[in-house]
Amino acid sequence: MERLVIVGSQWGDEGKGKVTDYLAQRADVVVRSQGGNNAGHTIVFQGQKFALRSIPSGIFNPKTKNVMASGMVIHPKQMLEELQMLKERGITEIQLYISDRAHVVFPYHEVLDGAYEALKENGKIGTTKRGIGPCYADKANRIGIRIGQLIQPNVFKEALKSTLVIKNMELRMLGLPPFDYDSLLKEYSEYAERIRPYVCDTSVLLNEEIEKHSKILFEGAQGVMLCLDHGTYPYVTSSSPTGSSVSLNVGIAPRYITDVLGICKAYTTRVGEGPFPTEMCEDLAEQIRERGHEYGTVTKRPRRVGYLDAVALNHAKRVSGINHLALMLLDVLTEVPVLKICYAYRLDGKILTTVPSTVEELMRAEPLYVELPGWKEDISRVSSFEELPKNCQAYLKKIEELTSLPISLFSVGPDRMQTIEREPLLK
Ligand code: IMP
Repeated sequence: MERLVIVGSQWGDEGKGKVTDYLAQRADVVVRSQGGNNAGHTIVFQGQKFALRSIPSGIFNPKTKNVMASGMVIHPKQMLEELQMLKERGITEIQLYISDRAHVVFPYHEVLDGAYEALKENGKIGTTKRGIGPCYADKANRIGIRIGQLIQPNVFKEALKSTLVIKNMELRMLGLPPFDYDSLLKEYSEYAERIRPYVCDTSVLLNEEIEKHSKILFEGAQGVMLCLDHGTYPYVTSSSPTGSSVSLNVGIAPRYITDVLGICKAYTTRVGEGPFPTEMCEDLAEQIRERGHEYGTVTKRPRRVGYLDAVALNHAKRVSGINHLALMLLDVLTEVPVLKICYAYRLDGKILTTVPSTVEELMRAEPLYVELPGWKEDISRVSSFEELPKNCQAYLKKIEELTSLPISLFSVGPDRMQTIEREPLLK
């Protein structure tokens, strides 16, 4: 298990930050492959709580190389503030490498993100309004600006000039004020100076690390159900958070990915709009939300809460190559009298064990559940599977049975110590 991908197997917020932090202690390199500051990874390190948005979670270990790969979109101001915050809180010895091919987020992306959402009468996505979608759209439209261009003053001057003509036209068409070229150039040229020391061809770096047999951890952001291709489109993010996308997003061969660990909560949450077949009644959702602190790290929005959905998990497994599961926040379910796991959907009289492609169908899908009795015992101090109450063990076994995946790690609290590894990962 030399190169392990960590993938969110639901709608994001599964606890990837905690697992990454836990495994990062063993990793020589930690890589963020996609997304940007729409992600929020909460990490507890030496009793302090850190909320990382774009910097990889291996940053707390001075020996770990942290890579922001080419599939990312980077908001320079936010990223520099995050670096500053780390410095001020004592994280001074860091190794950070930023891909010269990652794309740059500009303020017009953020404005357009909000504007497109406001224009939609129905079907608002509920984005994080960080400009992620518009930035990836510019990348696909071939008018984006890469980090490698940003740090070359003459190249950046020209690139910004030609892009801004188009972006300002778009803004005017939407009745919004255009951006001033000179002030944007000045602001971003200042960021460029501060970012330049970290920039390199990270694909070269990663391939060299592979040659050396370094242990590499690929830290996913968001979750498979938010994948642009395989998620609940259009209620998705604008990149692919799957295991399959990693090789493209970081510039290595697919055969170098050895394992994919799907992170999943013991229940399900979703922020933002879109179908959510196993969403539960508000009374129970409220109880779980409070116990699990289910509020968005980035936007602070209350998360929607649902039962575990094995149909969605199996979809994530298929499209993402997941071969191990990590079950997070198991302690939050203590005292829930009856636990349900969705094993199929009923749609228009048919039983489905796969996820339909349209949100219209998914909205109509009725979840079919297996029900299991809950447990009342405090599990926050257990250190092995065998110490879990029998009903809790049965819950884990049922998940393994419905997904045909081993639960190789489970978590019973926020601390690193409350992580129980049943099979050695990244060892
Ligand atoms: P965007 O990524 O800001 O465009 O938002 C698109 C959808 O993805 C919205 O429903 C967001 O709430 C969701 N989303 C984006 N990033 C995350 C994340 O890190 N965790 C959970 N949901 C996310």
